[in-house]
Amino acid sequence: MSERVIAIDGPSGSGKGTIAARLAKELGYSLLDSGALYRVLGLASQRAGLDPEQDFDAIAQLALDLPISFGRPDDSAPWQEGSVWLAGDDVSLQIRTDEASALASQVAAIPAVRTNLLQRQRDFLQGEGLVADGRDMGTTVFPNSPLKIYLTASVEARAERRYKQLIAKGIDAILPALLRELQERDERDMQRSVSPLKPAEDAIIIDSTDLSIEDVMSQVLGLTREKLSN
Ligand code: DC
Repeated sequence: MSERVIAIDGPSGSGKGTIAARLAKELGYSLLDSGALYRVLGLASQRAGLDPEQDFDAIAQLALDLPISFGRPDDSAPWQEGSVWLAGDDVSLQIRTDEASALASQVAAIPAVRTNLLQRQRDFLQGEGLVADGRDMGTTVFPNSPLKIYLTASVEARAERRYKQLIAKGIDAILPALLRELQERDERDMQRSVSPLKPAEDAIIIDSTDLSIEDVMSQVLGLTREKLSN
């Protein structure tokens, strides 16, 4: 069975978040930022005083009951594009820090956490269709997706992009430290036992090292027309 899901996977800094958000808007599809689920879970675990290297059962339980919402804290509140909420608290900025990235990658390596977040991710498929952004969208969460894209770039190019983003926001950054953090996170995401970061067998690989966001977007739109035109 084929689903109207476009799966976009790849390492941090490959540009997949930007591409997924633009594509969802262009097609009128829903968007799943699965990394945000792991980021919020990392933060919730930290707030609960749990250790991601030890408290596996408690963190998996937290994943089942995680009070997360996207876009607004509850159905009566005004929509705030791109916002992420944990138990009514706006955590949109807090989940994007480097510390939150490392925590997300740690809780994401716990097998029971991945099992417990599976259905919640699949529930995002509603209405016209879904653009799903993550590490295992094509391999595990939506294996029947008719279009799977694996967006990658050299680790140097990804560190450089992150560096420029931080400097543009007025945040101090050290390029070699960013490069090291990315390498550590890639390593953990690729080596974990359950749903490691890797292209699905039928994924189309796009290397964005020397491409602009516009270049990638036009390739992805072309593929969408080809694979989901019926
Ligand atoms: O996409 P991101 O950088 O926001 O993801 C944060 C972390 O969450 C990433 O280091 C690995 C983990 N993750 C995952 O294991 N599976 C996903 N589908 C999405 C993210």
